[in-house]
Amino acid sequence: MSNILQLSNFGRKLTEKSGIVDLMNDLGEAVALRPDMLMLGGGNPAAIPEMQALWRESAGAFLSNQPAFDKSLASYDSPQGDPFFLDAVASMFSDRFHLPIASENVAVVSGAQLGMFCLLNLLAGEAPGGRKRKVLIPASPEYVGYADMGVEPDLFVACPAKITYPDPNDLSTFKYVVDFEALEDLVQTEDVAAVLVSRPTNPSGNVLTRDELAKLERLAERIDAWLIIDNAYGGPFPGIIEDEKELDSVFWGKRTILTYSLSKIGLPGLRTGFIIAPSEIVERITSLTAIVGLANGSLGQRIAQPFFETGKILDVSRTIVRPYYQRRRRRAVERLKDEFKKAGIDARIHKSEGSFFLLAWFPELQSGSRTLYRLLKERGVLVIPCDEFFYGLPIAERSTRNFIFEASRTQMLRISFSAPEETVEKGFQMIAQITSELLALEKSNY
Ligand SMILES: Cc1ncc(COP(=O)(O)O)c(C=O)c1O
Repeated sequence: MSNILQLSNFGRKLTEKSGIVDLMNDLGEAVALRPDMLMLGGGNPAAIPEMQALWRESAGAFLSNQPAFDKSLASYDSPQGDPFFLDAVASMFSDRFHLPIASENVAVVSGAQLGMFCLLNLLAGEAPGGRKRKVLIPASPEYVGYADMGVEPDLFVACPAKITYPDPNDLSTFKYVVDFEALEDLVQTEDVAAVLVSRPTNPSGNVLTRDELAKLERLAERIDAWLIIDNAYGGPFPGIIEDEKELDSVFWGKRTILTYSLSKIGLPGLRTGFIIAPSEIVERITSLTAIVGLANGSLGQRIAQPFFETGKILDVSRTIVRPYYQRRRRRAVERLKDEFKKAGIDARIHKSEGSFFLLAWFPELQSGSRTLYRLLKERGVLVIPCDEFFYGLPIAERSTRNFIFEASRTQMLRISFSAPEETVEKGFQMIAQITSELLALEKSNY
């Protein structure tokens, strides 16, 4: 059989076994086999009743507008996106945030994930003349969903984030910051096409400061690269971010590319996102969409369009989505810390500034986050072990120079708090209990 299926390099690279694909299959299987599993692992947003009602209402209005509905289902959109949707998005960004964004700067994509795949492979990889350029992750760990996106091998180079403690008297809360000195060293030897950050960052819930973004943009400009900011959880929508000011402005510079998703505001099933970028990039993304998919699905654009036309997407982010996750986040942090304390574990949680994940770090864990993940799965709780979020790191980093960072790579779990509250709290209790059992076992084996 294997002789028949002779794959291209592209075919191999994108379908060969990878850690994250195995992990995703494992998670999917576990959920299918055990419906009672406490699911604290996936990227699904919370079901917020007010948002669900608003989306149903908008879908209902679209459905009852027979000519628009029939036309939408019976025809392909332009590969850049429906012109009315593009206009609505561009006008919202230009009117509300005073940015020089017109519809030629917006490209719809079938989910931010696919959009990022197109963008990264468009910019990085081998260019005519043999020059090979990379995507720079300035503060590892970063979203695992990027890790296998390269059509070519070794697309990424990453710089370890600095581990800091915002309150030196409280070691239970840590925070990553960009290590600009190490970044400067890295760009001396690496040819970088794009600097990539998710903000808020998946898995840590970190939100790079505007100062950090401005420095990254200056760096990108200096090395003739782009700064790509993935706003899947951020401002101005969906607003799953602690700092309310983030909803009032959008970071923008000459070298910035912004990506957005409708998923985390409640529509992951509609697979719709968009990119805001200089028109020459939008044109290329449009060509890629035409080639790989002809056009994007139209339903997400139609259902969300009134929200962009009226600016309601900003209002609901401010009045429904942000407060909802803020309440959930504050309770989740308190409950998880409480459970760890009761179990007597030395556990640290990344300062939760956005997204709906808590990154828990167990500095005493020796058998690794995969072992802990498997034990938790056996006992009915699903989380994500974070070793795969640390990709693209130069081998030199695996030295004593950054010993604590290096050890931490296999000591972290990403725990979602978007599931119903009872599920989350039951899951937290079990995580604390099972982790303390494992740590005790490790100690007794010494
Ligand atoms: C940081 C980040 N970017 C992008 C995506 C994918 O978004 P979409 O559903 O629009 O493809 C996710 C999904 O979990 C994510 O966490």
